Amino acid sequence: MHHFTNQSLLTIIQWLKKELQTHNQLTFTVLNPDISSKYSGELIEVDKQTYIYRGYKAWINLAELHHCKMLTPIAMNEHIVKITFQKLNTQDSFHSVAIENREEKYGTQSKFFNISKNEEPTFLHAYHKALEAVKIEERKQILNLGINKGDEFELIAQMVKSKCFDAMQLVGIDHAQTALEFAKKRFSKENVHFYKHDINKLSTLNLSKSDLIISIGTLQSPGIHYKTFLMSLVQEHLSYDGALILGFPNSRWIDTELIYGAKAPNYSYSEMSLLFNDVIFAKKYLQQKKFRVTITGREYIFLTATRINLT
Ligand SMILES: C[S@@+](CC[C@H](N)C(=O)[O-])C[C@H]1O[C@@H](n2cnc3c(N)ncnc32)[C@H](O)[C@@H]1O
Repeated sequence: MHHFTNQSLLTIIQWLKKELQTHNQLTFTVLNPDISSKYSGELIEVDKQTYIYRGYKAWINLAELHHCKMLTPIAMNEHIVKITFQKLNTQDSFHSVAIENREEKYGTQSKFFNISKNEEPTFLHAYHKALEAVKIEERKQILNLGINKGDEFELIAQMVKSKCFDAMQLVGIDHAQTALEFAKKRFSKENVHFYKHDINKLSTLNLSKSDLIISIGTLQSPGIHYKTFLMSLVQEHLSYDGALILGFPNSRWIDTELIYGAKAPNYSYSEMSLLFNDVIFAKKYLQQKKFRVTITGREYIFLTATRINLT
């Protein structure tokens, strides 16, 4: 079994890349990081052997960057742990599944339906902060575009008192019929409404203006003209004191894992130009319209906009 001591990270990466071409699982031993607390790269002498120190975060990041998951490390002795990288099945991704009915791409039969983003710490942290930033407990009319099975309402329900939740009007729109049926059962309350509708034709629903609009992982969908749609959303559907939370995927799902980095057409690796273009467009537009805009998040980038100088 390979034992890494004072090899550079580049040397380890070169070894990993080579081995992963022919192996689905790689096992190697390293210094147990619990032995000390040092910066990655600091030298440490153990049993007359010099090691380059690396924490578990370094090994987990390395696994993810090479489309692997890290299994539970096993202590070999007092100072050494065995690390195993298990290759993810890169063919196993809902992104690549062809579904005949386009509207059901994210329906109950899709792989996407098994995903609970609120259980992914980096997603939950950013979305939770965004809801706090817009003072969710004070919002009365909430519109969610691309609600799917209702996860975004679920966190709101968890964050505010039930009396406060019941006083809100929540409207979720999607074109995936099966996902909406699931969401309706999940929130069988009079103040929560779901519509099967094309987001592009939002105006035809004649909804009253909302004081919070949320849309996560949806506005960049094919068939939605992101820039014009975003402007019409703000002008026609957001009340003057309204706030906006937009979530942009900077990740993709591979074999049940949320892998950091936006996937762009024509690139075999993560490339973020399209993501940055869309986020910055929204930021500039909303700032012109006198919103305070913050950009947060990691695997999902969250743009949160609230009105400046409300009178
Ligand atoms: C990637 S999913 C995101 C779902 C949810 N917001 C989340 O983050 O888990 C995009 C959602 O938008 C819906 N959608 C995409 N384009 C739509 C359109 N033109 N009209 C209505 N719904 C649409 C899809 O059916 C899907 O449920």
